[in-house]
Amino acid sequence: MSDFIVETVNLVKRYYLEGTYIEALKGINLKIKKGEMVALMGPSGSGKSTLLHLLGGIDLPTEGKVYIDGEDIFLLGEKKLARFRNDRIGFVFQFHYLLPEFTALENVMIPVQIYNKGDAEKKAREILARLGLEHRLNHRPPQLSGGEQQRVAIARAVVNQPSLVLADEPTGNLDSKNTALVMELLKELNEKNNVSMVIATHDSEVAQYCNRIIFLRDGMLQT
Ligand SMILES: Nc1ncnc2c1ncn2[C@@H]1O[C@H](COP(=O)(O)OP(=O)(O)OP(=O)(O)O)[C@@H](O)[C@H]1O
Ligand SMILES: [Mg+2]
Repeated sequence: MSDFIVETVNLVKRYYLEGTYIEALKGINLKIKKGEMVALMGPSGSGKSTLLHLLGGIDLPTEGKVYIDGEDIFLLGEKKLARFRNDRIGFVFQFHYLLPEFTALENVMIPVQIYNKGDAEKKAREILARLGLEHRLNHRPPQLSGGEQQRVAIARAVVNQPSLVLADEPTGNLDSKNTALVMELLKELNEKNNVSMVIATHDSEVAQYCNRIIFLRDGMLQT
């Protein structure tokens, strides 16, 4: 156990493309305490998505370490990391990656069903209703608007009651009413269930729901 839900040590991500290296993250040392709700801000291309992907164990660092609740996640191995992610982390992608052949309800039920964690349908219905989607349960993603898809993706990320939510511009496609709906749900999970959050956003309204703002610029943290 650790006081920190997230800790990174000299985290570097380099992409190699057409003969040149792109250094997307240049040695990030970040600590986030349990229960914090943090906004991750910075210009387009500054490395926000890259950092979230590494924190979620979705992509591998070139150098450095990521500890989630004290666990060195890249030492876990693929299978244990997948389980760890399903149990502990809720990820909202910038481009939502819903499964197109399943309905909204089924997309949200799947993370509960994978490891058989209780009444998937009840949990999925509750969260979707909270996000104003009770009338869209049986639509498949192509039959949903962009903002509806985004809310389904948020429901999917929180349905397993993770200890950490990593959200990449979760309100990027939403109007102000639905932005408030989403942020109020996230804030409630943060305050009532002590869920820690890192939310990449360009929206200062979203940042206002957070306890702290972290700025990235050119792959470096600004202090
Ligand atoms: N797979 C990749 N191969 C090469 N370069 C990449 C790759 N993914 C990202 N990059 C580069 O790394 C840098 C950081 O990208 P990233 O997606 O993390 O930015 P971001 O801060 O999330 O931007 P935005 O606000 O536009 O979402 C960018 O310069 C981007 O072009
Ligand atoms: Mg991004």
